Amino acid sequence: MREFLNTPNIDLYFVVGILFLFGFIEFAMGHYKKSSRVSDDWILEGVGFFVVAITKTLIVASVYFLGKALLPSMFGALSSWYLLPAFAFYILIDDVMQYWYHRSAHEYNWLWKHHRVHHAAREMGILTAYRNSWVYYLIMPNLWWGGIATFLGLGPAVLLGLIFKQIIVTSTHSTWKWDEAFYKHKALQPIAWIFEHILITPSFHHGHHGTSQADHISDPNGNYGNTFSLWDQMFGTAKFTRAFPVAYGLQTDPGDKWTSHLLYPLVKSSKEGSEIAPGHKKEKHLGTEPLKTSLEEGTYLYCQCGYSADQPWCNGSHHGSKFKPMVVDIKKERKVSICTCKMTNTPPYCDDSHLKM
Ligand code: FES
Ligand SMILES: [Zn+2]
Repeated sequence: MREFLNTPNIDLYFVVGILFLFGFIEFAMGHYKKSSRVSDDWILEGVGFFVVAITKTLIVASVYFLGKALLPSMFGALSSWYLLPAFAFYILIDDVMQYWYHRSAHEYNWLWKHHRVHHAAREMGILTAYRNSWVYYLIMPNLWWGGIATFLGLGPAVLLGLIFKQIIVTSTHSTWKWDEAFYKHKALQPIAWIFEHILITPSFHHGHHGTSQADHISDPNGNYGNTFSLWDQMFGTAKFTRAFPVAYGLQTDPGDKWTSHLLYPLVKSSKEGSEIAPGHKKEKHLGTEPLKTSLEEGTYLYCQCGYSADQPWCNGSHHGSKFKPMVVDIKKERKVSICTCKMTNTPPYCDDSHLKM
């Protein structure tokens, strides 16, 4: 058992080392001088780090005991595998699982409540990756897969994979935008293209943390990948902009305390209107008449889910569903008739479908 727990234990040393390295770079670049972080952010991310470390160890220990009791003959069954194929086998399965889990957290409301805290971060940083509720980590399928792979005898490959993932994840959450240099210099752009089409870059992941699509850079309902960008490309959720969002965080943020963010559903939010407050329910706000108005030049986000209380515009309530807003660019002030019943075939404009209701 002691030997078995070596994987998460050794991993922890590397994790701390990688975090220190990137943290030092962020500090040296002066990011913390201009930081607008509040004490709640520091507590949340600090405690979140230990939640992950403890959960990972518990999962690995549980797999060990369950495996020994139910399938003892499988213990170490793959230990003769060479490191490289074992590494590829472990990390590809891990990463595709994490892609779908993360995507599900944006598409299903009950899971969104455990991931929402990740998107409440108003700025990026090395510890942003540790903002998720304890439930999110406990049922994370790839953490269980890491335990299973270790049980099967792929411990060294799992360890190598965890270190590799840690470097990518820390670098993509960091405020050190190391990839910018590759986009600026023409000679380096082909290298950037190859890199970003295999692995996640800071700009790719920052785009996922951007507040909304209104900046034409962010897509919080896309770029779900953790280590490889392959899955986003394969499943149609990739958005490569090589730029960084103008703002981070939730569109509508009631300012929940770190306790409710991290311990939900054991602790719920006391903030009115919060998605993690007791008894909170999403309700549709559909109209029966179009909104006839005049729109000034600018970018608008048309609500397609119907949950926004700021109809017909998106307020971020679509998170936890398969909907996302439609970006509407108005080049010149004009009169419009915006659909509010969500039945139009020409969104965001009314096509008189409400008359059939
Ligand atoms: S609230 Fe964003 S699409 Fe409805
Ligand atoms: Zn997310």
